[in-house]
Amino acid sequence: MACFFDYKTRAIMFLRLVVLLCMLVCSFAHLQRFEHPAKADGTLSFLVIGDWGRNGSFNQSQVAHQMGRIGEKLDIDFVISTGDNFYDNGLMGVNDPKFEESFTKVYTAKSLQKQWYSVLGNHDYRGDVEAQLSPVLRKIDSRWLCLRSFIVNAEIAEFFFVDTTPFVDKYLMDKDHTYNWQGLPSLKTYRTNILKDLDLALRESSAKWKIVIGHHAIRSAGYHGDTPELINHLLPVLKANNVDLYMNGHDHCLGHVTSQDSPIRFLTSGAGSKAWRGFVNSNYGKALKFFHDGQGFVSVELSQIDARIVFYDVFGEVLHKLSLSKDLHSAM
Ligand SMILES: *[C@@H]1O[C@H](CO)[C@@H](O)[C@H](O)[C@H]1NC(C)=O
Ligand SMILES: *[C@@H]1O[C@H](CO)[C@@H](O)[C@H](O)[C@H]1NC(C)=O
Repeated sequence: MACFFDYKTRAIMFLRLVVLLCMLVCSFAHLQRFEHPAKADGTLSFLVIGDWGRNGSFNQSQVAHQMGRIGEKLDIDFVISTGDNFYDNGLMGVNDPKFEESFTKVYTAKSLQKQWYSVLGNHDYRGDVEAQLSPVLRKIDSRWLCLRSFIVNAEIAEFFFVDTTPFVDKYLMDKDHTYNWQGLPSLKTYRTNILKDLDLALRESSAKWKIVIGHHAIRSAGYHGDTPELINHLLPVLKANNVDLYMNGHDHCLGHVTSQDSPIRFLTSGAGSKAWRGFVNSNYGKALKFFHDGQGFVSVELSQIDARIVFYDVFGEVLHKLSLSKDLHSAM
């Protein structure tokens, strides 16, 4: 066989190919990681809010005001958004005024001028889904960080953000709305890869607290309720890896659900604006520890030994408290 390149050139070409392949594999197979330092004493505190962007209406501004007050009191390190960031149909592009109308101009309190870590909700998929992921938004408001699935390592806690909308089969058949699946590989590939990557990342995690965040509930007593696709595919990965909390939005309420077959707590915080759906699933029985149909948000304080989680209403009044002890958990 005639060969046009000498040995050295061929070796360099081969190496380049290997590097290229590695880059391709790495960019698809691994979750992007961010480091967020804990406080000097090793503790961490943050707020969790979901389903909010409505120009301040439906009590979004009132909730924002109370978040500012509690955020100040707890000296929060960051804010987590569980998705459905902009109603009704996400952003129309990176220049959509909704971004500032519903985010920058609403969450104005000093204590909320921290990093926000956000996932996408199903409503965000109805617009220009990739606009919310764009670094251009970070230039408009540097607090913003929304990606499909990613990890935040905050020393004592590790946060695993999962894009759950592509898991839900009914959106594929939804005749009333158009979902923008742009930027994703096939949904089947997406699901397989994310579950594999999440399992690997959780297994490798040495953080004291493991917290998984997604838009859709695994278990919720609200109107939308449980998500069967997540119970079947995501929950087994969380159970196998000693996850402490799964936090979601989607149901426009606040909720706390336990289950008999795992110590995972299922917390809903999707009450950032429109709420009062007038529905609660009474079949939950004793597994339902708390439910609030109206607006509100959640705070979380973590130390090496315990977690303190508080649910607040639109007035910033405490509705429900939950404490977890790490010693108890590690004995299990
Ligand atoms: C927010 O305001 C914009 C105009 O500034 C409007 O197009 C949009 O429909 C409003 N959204 C909501 C949820 O009220
Ligand atoms: C705003 O909150 C108050 C107090 O809970 C409630 O009475 C009112 O109905 C809420 N407004 C909306 C639009 O949900």
